[in-house]
Amino acid sequence: MKIFAKNHYYNLEFKNSFQKLYKEVNNATLIIIDKKVYEILKNNLNRFKKKIIIIKASEKNKTIQTTLKIFKIFLSKKVKRDDLIVAIGGGIIQDLATFTTSIYMRGLKWIYFPTTLLAQADSCIGGKSSINFSNFKNILGNFYPPSKIIINTNFLKTLNDDDIRSGIGEIIKVHFLSGKNSINYLRSSLKKHKFNKTNLNRLIKNSIILKNQILKKDAEDKNIRLKMNYGHTFGHSLETATKNLIPHGLAVNIGLDMANFFAFKKNLITKKIYYDLNKIINLNLRKKDFKKINKKLFFSSLKKDKKNKRNFYGFILPYNFGKVDLFYYEMNSFNDEIINDYFLSIYHKRSISE
Ligand SMILES: NC(=O)c1ccc[n+]([C@@H]2O[C@H](COP(=O)([O-])OP(=O)(O)OC[C@H]3O[C@@H](n4cnc5c(N)ncnc54)[C@H](O)[C@@H]3O)[C@@H](O)[C@H]2O)c1
Ligand SMILES: [Zn+2]
Repeated sequence: MKIFAKNHYYNLEFKNSFQKLYKEVNNATLIIIDKKVYEILKNNLNRFKKKIIIIKASEKNKTIQTTLKIFKIFLSKKVKRDDLIVAIGGGIIQDLATFTTSIYMRGLKWIYFPTTLLAQADSCIGGKSSINFSNFKNILGNFYPPSKIIINTNFLKTLNDDDIRSGIGEIIKVHFLSGKNSINYLRSSLKKHKFNKTNLNRLIKNSIILKNQILKKDAEDKNIRLKMNYGHTFGHSLETATKNLIPHGLAVNIGLDMANFFAFKKNLITKKIYYDLNKIINLNLRKKDFKKINKKLFFSSLKKDKKNKRNFYGFILPYNFGKVDLFYYEMNSFNDEIINDYFLSIYHKRSISE
C-alpha cells in the first residue's frame, strides 16, 4: 500500500512472518527496539546484540535526554548518512526513532516494524514525531516518515488487555471520523468483543485506509489532518493530569467523549448523537481507566494546546455523525464549567460505578 507524505509516498506491507524482520535487522547498522519486544524475540536477536539499542517504552523516556543518548550511540557506532536504522516497537519507540533519524546528519534511512495495536492501526503512518518536554506531552516534534513500514499482526498476541484497548481507542477515533457506515461497523465489532485475528486485521486495515485518505489531502496537519486530533486535546490533558496513568489511546477514548459532551452542550450535536457515540466509547472503557484527576493540571494543559489562539480554546468537535471541525471558544468560566460538569456528571460517576 502507498502511504502519502508531503512530497512523496512510502510503502506499507503486511507480513505475517518474522523472516522479513530478521533480514532487515541483518541489513541494519543499528536497531532501536522496545525492551519488552526484545525479551520476546531475544533468542533470535541475540546474535545482533552489539548493534541493538534497547529502550523501555514509557512516557518518562520519550524525552530529549533519551534522544541525546541515541545520538551518542549513533556517533560511537560511526553511523553515516547511507546507513539503515530499524525501529521495532510501539508509538514510543516510533516517536524516538522518527525524531533521532530525522535530526542526525539531517536524515537517516529507517524502517519501522510497529508492534502495538495503536502503532499498527494509527501512529505508524503520518510520519509525525512527538517528544515530551517540561511536563508537556508531545510538545516537540517534526515530520519524517520511514522509508518502509512492515506490519506483522503476530506481534499483537503478547499485548495485554490495556494495550489492546488503547489501540482500540485510536481505532474508534478514526472510525468516528469516517461516517455512519464505519461507525456502524465499529459498533457491531466492538459489541461482539471479537478481538480475534481476523477482526483485528480488518480494523487495522480500515483504520489505515481511512487515515491515508486524510493524509492524501493534508500530509502535515495544516487543515483537514487536524481532524485526527479529535479527542486529543482533552486526551492529552487527561494524560498530563493523571501523570500518564491512563494509556494514550484510552485517554483519547475518554477525550472523544469529552469533545462530544462539549459539542452536545453547545448544541452542535443532539443528545441522541452524544449518547449513541457514548455507548460505543463505553464498550471499550472500564471503571479502572478513570484515574484520579488533578483538575488544575488538566486546565493548565488544556490552555496550552497547540490549536488554541490567544484567549480561545481550539477544540475539534463533531457537528454530526462522522463530521468534525475546529471550533474556537473563549477561555472563560462559562466554558470551563461545561468541562467541570463532564467530570461531575460522567467521569467521576464512571470512576466509582461499573
Ligand atoms: N507519532 C504519532 O503520530 C503518534 C500517534 C499516536 C500516538 N503516538 C504516541 O504513541 C505512544 C503510545 O503508543 P503505544 O500505545 O504503541 O505505546 P508504547 O510504545 O508505550 O507501548 C505500550 C506498551 O506495550 C509494550 N509493547 C510494545 N509492543 C509489544 C508487544 N508486541 N508485546 C507486548 N508488549 C508490547 C510496550 O513495552 C509498552 O509497555 C504515545 O506516547 C503517543 O503519544 C504517536
Ligand atoms: Zn493519538
